[in-house]
Amino acid sequence: MSSTTCQICDGEVEEFLDLGRQPLSDAFPAEGDLGHEFFYRLAVGMCRSCSMVQSMEQVPRERMFNEDYPYYSSGSSVMRAHFEGIARGFLGGELARPDPFIVEIGSNDGVLLKTIHDAGVRHVGFEPSGKVAAAAAERGVRVLGEFFDAGTAAGTRESDGPADVIFAANTICHIPYLRSILAGVKTLLAPDGVFVFEDPYLGDIVAKRSFDQIYDEHFFLFSARAVQAMAARFGLELVDVERLAVHGGEVRYTIARAGARKPKAVVADLIAAENARQLADLRTLRQFAAATARIRDDLVATLRRLRAAGHEIVGYGATAKSATVTNFCGIGPDLVSYVCDTTPAKQGRFTPGTHIPIRPAEAFSDPYPDFALLFAWNHENEIMAKEQGFRRAGGQWIRYVPDVHLG
Ligand code: SAM
Ligand code: TMP
Ligand code: ZN
Repeated sequence: MSSTTCQICDGEVEEFLDLGRQPLSDAFPAEGDLGHEFFYRLAVGMCRSCSMVQSMEQVPRERMFNEDYPYYSSGSSVMRAHFEGIARGFLGGELARPDPFIVEIGSNDGVLLKTIHDAGVRHVGFEPSGKVAAAAAERGVRVLGEFFDAGTAAGTRESDGPADVIFAANTICHIPYLRSILAGVKTLLAPDGVFVFEDPYLGDIVAKRSFDQIYDEHFFLFSARAVQAMAARFGLELVDVERLAVHGGEVRYTIARAGARKPKAVVADLIAAENARQLADLRTLRQFAAATARIRDDLVATLRRLRAAGHEIVGYGATAKSATVTNFCGIGPDLVSYVCDTTPAKQGRFTPGTHIPIRPAEAFSDPYPDFALLFAWNHENEIMAKEQGFRRAGGQWIRYVPDVHLG
């Protein structure tokens, strides 16, 4: 266990969980690329000063977010509805003013900005990953193929004026250079504007023992306490929080310029709840780390037992999260025959590091396997609704969050 320097406050980050040597979670090698993958050490710690939970090592941003980035936000019907709801909320709320302007960081395939574009509202999305950005542009969304940071934010302030809303989903936690992002937000945000972002919540990760939320892209695991302290360091203020059920449990944070808005009582309530459960205590986080090791041992023993009894096991959903699970647990094609996934860019390729073949979703029922390891557990409701035939055919799901269970 080692220590490093906090990306937010330069305090000392103490490691509490080592998930070992890991590949990029969203880089799915083709047959010819096997053996040439990039690896790094995936470990997390907590800052002793500001309590921000963060990775011990950084992966260069261009390695993760480039032309080949394969995650398309519109791939899930639940997420499409989620983002349409957020866009409608902004249109009827923060953007219901003369000539409003919204900026999205990590706009991906335009899943949110499409609704804004259709309403004729000024917008721009920052999206460095080429193919997903092109998909948004095809929908008419205005996209800049750049990383948002202090420099690019200043450019947009100059060309478009101040933003009433800066929004980001599942992106801010990906960014180690968060100080540069916050400087950019300060430059670009209108005096009474809001910076709204939603990301996986440390409180849910610890409660559900969902260690697979930790991977290269999830550099920070946010808590309300750490986000409040971070905002204050930059002359900003956390004014609202909302817990969300999507992606296994997230929080939406609303940040304004310090003193511009009165913080809602839910901010203090959530921080009090975090303090009551000692979320910012290294002992709590070490217990979480111990639970992670138990889940790994249980899962591997279960898979080996089922395989020894002659059962076929397949994975459901080649999620970024599954890279952590398969690499930490050492799960390869000897235990899981293939992983089915709806994303064409992943099909015909292999899981990062562990090289399990990825097949189209249709392969799942042709014929059904005996057991399916639910890697996409964050999309559980959507998947259970459409895969009822699997259980009817006698199949069983294998889950590992919050513990290993079959059914
Ligand atoms: N917002 C979408 C959602 O919630 O489904 C996409 C989330 S995806 C996990 C993260 C996205 O952030 C990727 O498309 C990536 O290219 C983009 N990204 C990463 N760093 C960024 C930065 N500094 N500025 C803008 N986008 C960034
Ligand atoms: P994520 O957990 O990183 O969001 O990735 C979800 C992956 O799961 C993505 O590759 C698409 C896949 N998926 C399916 O294969 N079937 C489904 O029904 C859903 C909702 C997702
Ligand atoms: Zn710190």
